Amino acid sequence: MITIRRAVAADAAAARDVRLRALTDAPGAFATTLAREEAVPDDGWVERVTTAAWFLAWSPAGVVGVAVGIDDPDDADARHLVGMWVEPAHRGDGTAARLVEAVLGWARGDGARAVALWVVDGNERARRFYARLGFRATGERGPLPSDPAVLESRLRRAI
Ligand SMILES: CC(C)(COP(=O)(O)OP(=O)(O)OC[C@H]1O[C@@H](n2cnc3c(N)ncnc32)[C@H](O)[C@@H]1OP(=O)(O)O)[C@@H](O)C(=O)NCCC(=O)NCCS
Repeated sequence: MITIRRAVAADAAAARDVRLRALTDAPGAFATTLAREEAVPDDGWVERVTTAAWFLAWSPAGVVGVAVGIDDPDDADARHLVGMWVEPAHRGDGTAARLVEAVLGWARGDGARAVALWVVDGNERARRFYARLGFRATGERGPLPSDPAVLESRLRRAI
């Protein structure tokens, strides 16, 4: 059984661990790099989990997925979904959708009217996943910060 829970300061090490696993598994899917995240000190992870809305998916064996809600730098009415990752053994079992629902619920409670995210060209599994959950392309596109040769698109969903 999987439990989705918002991280607190005591979960900082678990958040670091799952984030490093995500960047090892899918380095091309994210706006940062494994090396940059590995360099963040322990107190930096405590700050992260206490200033943003980190949702962790826990199995009896440990954390198997993560999704993070942050303020949207481009839209005061929206919140931004970042860091979405589920370990391969839990793909297709609904864990990822439950993580997104947790971020949508947080954003709603925070007074937002929409949730937005960026997804890279070629990540068809993620695109289909987000489309199923009601996210639609806004038409905005730009280079992936960690690899400007790759383009990404902004998706948005009203809440
Ligand atoms: C993106 C991610 C969180 C989605 O979670 P998931 O459990 O895999 O998602 P689901 O299985 O519920 O949905 C995936 C969809 O893609 C489809 N799909 C599966 N494999 C696919 C492939 N190789 N190519 C295209 N579509 C694929 C599935 O059929 C499903 O679509 P459907 O609901 O229309 O049938 C997960 O795959 C993941 O962690 N990927 C690596 C990290 C990543 O890409 N994060 C997103 C950053 S924006």
